[in-house]
Amino acid sequence: MNTKVYIVDARHPNTDLLVSAAHIIQEGGLVAFPTETVYGLGADGTDSEAVAKIFMAKGRPSDNPLILHIADTAMVKTLAKEVPANARILMGRFWPGPLTLVLKRTQAVPDVVTGGLDTVAIRLPDSEVARELIRLAGVPVAGPSANTSGRPSPTTAQAVLADLEGKIEGIIDAGPCGIGVESTVVDCTTPVPTLLRPGGITMEMLLEVLGEVEYQPIKGEDTKAPRAPGMKYKHYAPLAPMVLYEGDSAQVAKAIADASKIALESKRVGAIVSNETAALLEKGVQVADYGSRYRPEEVAAGLYEALRYFDSEPVDVIYAEGIDEFGLGLAVMNRLRKAAGYRIVKVE
Ligand code: TXA
Ligand code: MG
Repeated sequence: MNTKVYIVDARHPNTDLLVSAAHIIQEGGLVAFPTETVYGLGADGTDSEAVAKIFMAKGRPSDNPLILHIADTAMVKTLAKEVPANARILMGRFWPGPLTLVLKRTQAVPDVVTGGLDTVAIRLPDSEVARELIRLAGVPVAGPSANTSGRPSPTTAQAVLADLEGKIEGIIDAGPCGIGVESTVVDCTTPVPTLLRPGGITMEMLLEVLGEVEYQPIKGEDTKAPRAPGMKYKHYAPLAPMVLYEGDSAQVAKAIADASKIALESKRVGAIVSNETAALLEKGVQVADYGSRYRPEEVAAGLYEALRYFDSEPVDVIYAEGIDEFGLGLAVMNRLRKAAGYRIVKVE
């Protein structure tokens, strides 16, 4: 199929183009759309057949449930059986925005959306384009990130097309996403809300309004029954094997400089590092620079493009630099560890 590209302004999107895209969704087709975090792959969330096409196009395991995107808080009522006090606080403070809430679901939510769970993930995005698309479609829009399963999430329309061109009816291109990592997923069905996936709303922001949040960072791949089912799969991986260096930043920079220099003798070497570390590397190392290690927002915004950089610049091994886990750094490190398949070198 021919994937139609609708180019719109992120702030003042052309309504006629969004109406055409919304029609595709109403007719059971797939449209990729921008959000403030990453691009999503949208389908009518009330249409089981349409939602099933999302899993086909992405090659996504069917037990990994999807987020339902809504245009206003009123849409929660038909999807969630109850909205606990904590969820209400989070909605009031962070919606619209990069926060997804897991709530007890109603019968209106098709099984294919939730992978058979009795809960549903709901998000009200801040992106004007996303909200207007959902409003025009008139239904909750089921939408995972618009990448092939296992690959880095797309933060540009070009990255979406690289994975899904010819497999989806359309894409709305509103330029690069601002935040660059996915929404924070919080389970509000537990007595103390549980952080399932760190993302655009930081742990510090959650703690400020909730006081208490459960979080168990996943260590290694030995998670038998992960709470967010998507967390157990290989994710965000670049094409070449990647090794992640963590610890004191000066020592990490030195360790990557040393390791990449040795590797260069026999291999094509890539590095996903800060601009501070990039300056220390041998000329032969191919560098995808994610910005300053001291500005986690900058790293988040550049991370997935850096992970995709070596798709077109093939290398044999990639050395990646970790950052401190404050602010968006927590989400960045969660993604980098997965992308590395937990091949981690700790330096002190
Ligand atoms: O920023 C985002 O969240 C993007 C944009 C497009 O909105 N979407 C996104 O969707 O990242 P996806 O499908 O790539 O990630 C959704 C995550 C997965 O880890 C999934 O397992 C989890 O949310 N999830 C969905 N429904 C759930 C549920 N009922 N209970 C627990 N986890 C759930
Ligand atoms: Mg995803």
